[in-house]
Amino acid sequence: MDSNKRPETMARITNKVLADEFINEQVALIREQVGSKKVLLALSGGVDSSVVAALLIKAIGKQLVCVHVNHGLMRKGESEKVVEVFGKQLDANLIYIDATDRFLDKLVDVADPETKRKIIGGEFIRVFEEEARKLTDVDFLAQGTIYPDIIESKGVKAHHNVGGLPDDLKFELVEPVKLLFKDEVRVVGSALGLPDEMVFRQPFPGPGLGVRCTGAITRDRLEALRESDAILREEFEKAGLAGQIWQFFTVVPDFRSTGVRDGKRVFDWPVIIRAVNSVDAMGATVPEIDWNILKKITDRILAEVPGVCRVLYDLSPKAPATIEWE
Ligand code: XMP
Repeated sequence: MDSNKRPETMARITNKVLADEFINEQVALIREQVGSKKVLLALSGGVDSSVVAALLIKAIGKQLVCVHVNHGLMRKGESEKVVEVFGKQLDANLIYIDATDRFLDKLVDVADPETKRKIIGGEFIRVFEEEARKLTDVDFLAQGTIYPDIIESKGVKAHHNVGGLPDDLKFELVEPVKLLFKDEVRVVGSALGLPDEMVFRQPFPGPGLGVRCTGAITRDRLEALRESDAILREEFEKAGLAGQIWQFFTVVPDFRSTGVRDGKRVFDWPVIIRAVNSVDAMGATVPEIDWNILKKITDRILAEVPGVCRVLYDLSPKAPATIEWE
């Protein structure tokens, strides 16, 4: 039987009872596969890797070594959340690497979107590889591969992308959720007790805020992006929109426009609000947001985020626009 093919008889995991059954099965299988050996996992804090981490912690505890690479392009508070949930609450064996300077130094003056993506992906593999080499007693690599990854890209997980490790570092793979669809992974995550903000996290590109700070990334513009994104999230949550809108974020483009502040002319950045509804990211529509909510977000961004003098709402559907700006 092809272990990468979901059996037609496999029931869809839609509730806690079915999720618990799946968890118990996987815990037994993981223990059988791994024995007393160690397993390495790149833990981004996204839904898939978080659920895999929680499953493995339940199955093998400290035999799992999680590596969280903070590439400096995470949203506000996200790396801290990984440390809090996995390092503290679940008491995992977690290695936290702040590689912000490494990534941002490599990205100086790099404006081409594809080159940026390649640098971020390549550097991620290098940082992860360095950590993997320090751990001499690891035999397995866990990955948050899910069924759509297998169907759509032959098992290559674009945004985790530890598949690019050199040949001498090949581990046996542990992929406990590889036959599950995203909604099932979320049900399993909730049954494992992970917080809602992790389980229902919206899609976040592997290159993170890097593709939303368009053109050549600068630290001040990246900071404006992170802060404005946090304000948008906070206000959408307060307004009850966070659970209703599929994906939302801000973008800070690499151009300025004129403004006035304290009676003086300034030349500052715009912040663009992007909010979309979608089923599978192949197409997207733009929701109508209450004017008062947009106004409140605008006022807060203009008052709280240095270097910004304008806030725009992107009304473009996909197609012709893509969801991300680059
Ligand atoms: P676009 O911009 O192509 O995005 O309409 C479709 C969905 O994919 C996400 N996205 C990415 N995810 N690596 C990822 O893992 C990437 O480089 C990347 N670019 C876009 C995007 O956030 C949206 O949900």
